[in-house]
Amino acid sequence: MKFLITGGAGFIGSNLAFALQERYPEAKIYVLDNFSSGHFKNLIGFKGQVITGDISDPSLWDYVRKNFHFDVIFHEAAITDTTVEDQYFMMKTNADSFRYILDLAVEWNAKVIYASSAGVYGNSPPPMREDKGLEPENIYGFSKLMMDHIAMDYMERYPEMNIVGLRYFNVYGPREDYKGKTASMIYQLAVKMIKGERPRLFKWGEQRRDFVYIKDVIKANLLALEKNVSGIFNVGTGRARSFNEIVSILNKELGTNYEIEYFDCPYDFYQKFTEADLTKIREALGYEPEYSLEEGIKDYLPYIIKRVKK
Ligand SMILES: NC(=O)c1ccc[n+]([C@@H]2O[C@H](COP(=O)([O-])OP(=O)(O)OC[C@H]3O[C@@H](n4cnc5c(N)ncnc54)[C@H](O)[C@@H]3O)[C@@H](O)[C@H]2O)c1
Repeated sequence: MKFLITGGAGFIGSNLAFALQERYPEAKIYVLDNFSSGHFKNLIGFKGQVITGDISDPSLWDYVRKNFHFDVIFHEAAITDTTVEDQYFMMKTNADSFRYILDLAVEWNAKVIYASSAGVYGNSPPPMREDKGLEPENIYGFSKLMMDHIAMDYMERYPEMNIVGLRYFNVYGPREDYKGKTASMIYQLAVKMIKGERPRLFKWGEQRRDFVYIKDVIKANLLALEKNVSGIFNVGTGRARSFNEIVSILNKELGTNYEIEYFDCPYDFYQKFTEADLTKIREALGYEPEYSLEEGIKDYLPYIIKRVKK
């Protein structure tokens, strides 16, 4: 088996690289990345190779076509900073590049498992179901929705292909630290509190999100790999939790008693409530999330503490 992971130096891609390396020790694993938001340190211990390049550059794909052949493509590369407002740049990178990848997958008869996002739902009413409320509020969410449209077109034109879109909700876990300000709220709040600072939240901390632990996201990818299905699926826990709740779990786990400092949200658009309806992914992939927010934070905290104290 030959796996290609675009965005493999990033948070989710690098975790995927290690999970595949462990589960398929005989497989050849390649990461393709331009290191714009990923970091080489995420790949320390990775035994495969890296192809360095920009997914929006067609000459990169000519080079890949001439020199490689992959059985499965995990497509994670994207501009992941949801506050980027440059529509041309976002669409070129996230949406248009996807066509190059799918065209190659058609040639190779490769399976494609790609990262979509809960951003496609904007502020539509939860629980979010795959076929409704597709009202992105920013260009990032729109670019992910356009990826889904492109994928559906290829699914229709090439029914023999396996194409799986995974709409991740709010993912958190080890190796997200290089994302800086776009790392999860769980990471941001934990770092502050471990450093002895008061946690700060947008007023009044009751924004609710479906926070999903990286191990569950990897599990969804591996199920998509193993099953013979095509489709677009939500990946979350099915339960929205508030930012205030994150702080109280962290206080409990760290043995602290910090009070929250609230401030005004500076963004025009902010997703206030996301919650995944998991009916479709349960039925098609047999996916069941294992980590509640409490369990995920407990599993993750030793990693954050080590990073902060280094
Ligand atoms: N983390 C989340 O909560 C979340 C939620 C929904 C969807 N997603 C999606 O999951 C995927 C992975 O996100 P992540 O959280 O690991 O973010 P990340 O920023 O850590 O990873 C993205 C990777 O893509 C690479 N990249 C960016 N532009 C590129 C380009 N033009 N060419 C080649 N490589 C490029 C970056 O260097 C980085 O390594 C993305 O597609 C993202 O949109 C993530």
